[in-house]
Amino acid sequence: MIAKIEDVNMITFSQYGDDRGHLVVVENQKDIPFDIKRIFYIYGSDDKVVRGKHANINSQFVLINVAGMSKVKVIDHTGKQKIFELKIPHTAIFLPKMIWKEMYDFSKDSVLLCLSDNIYDPKEYIRDFKEFRAFFKNI
Ligand code: TYD
Repeated sequence: MIAKIEDVNMITFSQYGDDRGHLVVVENQKDIPFDIKRIFYIYGSDDKVVRGKHANINSQFVLINVAGMSKVKVIDHTGKQKIFELKIPHTAIFLPKMIWKEMYDFSKDSVLLCLSDNIYDPKEYIRDFKEFRAFFKNI
């Protein structure tokens, strides 16, 4: 199935905070719809940079601003786009395969945690927007 903009969803995780502070749990297949094989995080970005600018043929992602805030623009293969704001540590955005994504407007304190169901393989990244839009026309 080819991902559409409607398949990009915000997720709210359960919080188990008490008077000592907050605790948020993310479990495979329960809180997110895949098994985590890779974790990376992005910090030290600001409101002048745009990161991402790619689509992944084989990988799904869940992005969580565990500190600070950022925005994610997503575009599907039909060209439909939507902008999401990440600023609450117990919420996340789910990004299915083959969705174009751009992360930007990072606050100085932004720590963007990224979970994926695949280990890194640069060959499954499409970094050219025209190539992304053309991808499904050849199938
Ligand atoms: P890049 O994909 O450009 O980051 P972003 O999408 O956030 O703009 O990755 C930056 C560098 O990090 C690039 O040299 C590839 C490397 N990298 C890995 O080695 N493994 C990974 O899992 C990721 C996401 C990136």
